[in-house]
Order: sequence, then structure tokens, then C-alpha cells
Amino acid sequence: MGNVLITGASGFIGSFLVEEGLKNDYKVYAGIRKSSSREYLKDPRINFLEMDFSSVEKIVETLEACKILGIRFQYIIHNAGVTKAGRKEDYFRVNAQNTQNFIQALIQTGMVPEKFIYMSSLAAHGPGDPATMLPVMLADTPKPIELYGKSKLEAEKYILSLESFPWLIIRPTGVYGPREKDYYVFFKTMSRGMETYIGYRPQILTFIYVKDLVRLIFDAMKSPIVRRAYFVSDGKEYDTKMFAAITKRILKKKTLKITVPSVIVKHLAFGLEKIFGLWGTIPTLNTDKYKVLSSTNWRCETEPLQRDFGFVAEYDLEKGVAETIDWYKSEHWL
Ligand SMILES: NC(=O)c1ccc[n+]([C@@H]2O[C@H](COP(=O)([O-])OP(=O)(O)OC[C@H]3O[C@@H](n4cnc5c(N)ncnc54)[C@H](OP(=O)(O)O)[C@@H]3O)[C@@H](O)[C@H]2O)c1
Repeated sequence: MGNVLITGASGFIGSFLVEEGLKNDYKVYAGIRKSSSREYLKDPRINFLEMDFSSVEKIVETLEACKILGIRFQYIIHNAGVTKAGRKEDYFRVNAQNTQNFIQALIQTGMVPEKFIYMSSLAAHGPGDPATMLPVMLADTPKPIELYGKSKLEAEKYILSLESFPWLIIRPTGVYGPREKDYYVFFKTMSRGMETYIGYRPQILTFIYVKDLVRLIFDAMKSPIVRRAYFVSDGKEYDTKMFAAITKRILKKKTLKITVPSVIVKHLAFGLEKIFGLWGTIPTLNTDKYKVLSSTNWRCETEPLQRDFGFVAEYDLEKGVAETIDWYKSEHWL
């Protein structure tokens, strides 16, 4: 099937991409750092490639070494990235600058693959209009609301500026599944009997189960389509209460509902950010996080996925959460 290089292979989505590649008989190269965990990369068929994206020169060195060994990548999934960072500049350094360094090195070494998939995010576009509640469309102008989304959009803009580079941009909405650590906090809180909401306005959410996402990415990779972007969700819409109800049902738990008025969360986020800012760091609850948590419309267009790749999600939230919670329990996370 050819060689595929998956960067950020040690992370949540990356480790599932590696498994999907192996399942589809690709020769899989896992792009990792020296410090990366290999906990989910134990299959003996995995080839490891240590990569340092901090300069074009360092990547060129790695790619030249590959060339000498006769290794060429037909496909690259550039999935390495940060979804949260302690300092503002880290978002742009890792998500935007590193992507640019990587692509420049590929061009410089003549190692441009047949397809380069950039793992972006719905955050690069930003939420939809809260007044019309219409889903965001690929033809709309992106308006990211926080640093993470802005840094992903900056990487996208660089990619779009390239002439005849064979890119595909994938913009998943919230990805959940086994090994995931952010939604996990929600599942853990629910399992402890606490159901917390921010504000009283209903929030429309979209999700994609990690196994559906990686299947879609490999289907997109095999297709002849290049130079297009896609939002990815399971095609359904949920609200925060539905997410909680599904989780409660699966956990078989009764919960205590607590709603914190959004104005309190907003002021708290602002205050924490000011304090942490004195040390040049960002707290977990910050004004960006507040904007994401309080946005009411995370609907996105998904018809192009079905049209171009025949994609239909196998997992809706109920099925995906059940499998995820089973995994958390089997691993004693819950
Ligand atoms: N999770 C979601 O809901 C979601 C939604 C949309 C898009 N995405 C995108 O999907 C990708 C993977 O996200 P994830 O949720 O799987 O995150 P994750 O579990 O935190 O994994 C991130 C991966 O990127 C690597 N990485 C981070 N900084 C790096 C650097 N400076 N140099 C090289 N590698 C670096 C990490 O390596 P180490 O293990 O060495 O730290 C790890 O392998 C990201 O690009 C993210 O923006 C995620």
C-alpha cells in the first residue's frame, strides 16, 4: 500500500492513525520525539522516526538520512500539534511554524509526498453564528476565536499559499475515544456524580469518534482528491444536556446538576489569566477557553465527506461514549 509517515504518532489521535495504517497494510513510520511516550506504539511493525520540527535544517537532516536508506513517503499525515499550551507563542511555534518548517524541508529535499494531510481543527474556522445557528460551511471565511484556532488557521494559510503542493486539510470537531484526556475530565466528573454547566444558554455540540476519524483520513488519503479542506463530525448534533444524559445512562449514575453563570466564569478566567500572565503562562481556565466553552454553535458542514469519500460515521455519540467508557474502566481510569 506504500509508506505513510504519521507525525505526532505518540498522541491520542496519532496512535489510532498508526493502528489504522497498519490495519490497511501500509508501512507505517511513526514520527515522534525522543521524549515521546511509546505506550500505544507497541506493534513490532511500526518504524520509528525521531523528528525535530524546530528548524528546516533539522528536518532536512532527517529526510536526507531517509533518502540514503531508500525511504520515501508516499503519504504524510502531519498530525503533531498542541491543543493547549502554557505560553501563547507555543501555539504558533508548534502548530504554524513547525508545519511551515516541515513543508519547506520536504520541498527542499525533493521529498514531497503524493499526499500531505494536515490535521487542522474546526477551531481554525471557529464556531458558527449564534443568531442564525447555521452550520459553518467550507466556503465561509474562518473566524477563529482563540489562539489555538488562530495558530491552526495560520498553518492552513501557509499551506494554501503553496502552488501545486498535494495537500488535504482535515478539520475535525471535538474528537473523543479511548486514551483521550480532555473529555475524560468530563467523564470522570460525571462518574463522581457532578454535572456542571456554564451559563443557561443551550450549546450545540458536534463530535467525531476517533476510530471514525482515522478511517475517514485513510479513505481521503487513498482518494485522488487533493487541495481541498473538510470539516469532520459524525453528522449529528447534540447539546450539552444530551451529552450528559448519554454519559449518565452509560455510567448508570445519578448526578447533581450545578450551573455556574457564565459571567462568573468569564471574570474568573480573566482574573486567572492576569495572575498567571505575571509568570508568562496561561491557566487551564483562561479567556480563550471561556470563549470556546460559551460558544453556542459548533455545527459544521459534513455533506462533502459523504460526497467525496462516501463517509458515514459508524459511531454516534451513544455508541462511541459506551466504548470509550468501557475502555476507561478497563484501564482503571474510571
Ligand atoms: N483532540 C481533538 O479533539 C482534536 C480536534 C481537532 C484537531 N485536533 C488535532 O489533532 C492533532 C492531534 O491531537 P491529539 O488530540 O491527539 O493531541 P495529543 O494527544 O496531545 O497529541 C499531540 C501529538 O503531537 C506531538 N507534539 C506536540 N508538540 C510537538 C512538537 N513540538 N514537536 C513534535 N511533536 C509534537 C505530541 O508528541 P509528544 O507525545 O512527544 O508530546 C503528540 O504526539 C493535533 O494537531 C490537534 O490540533 C485534535
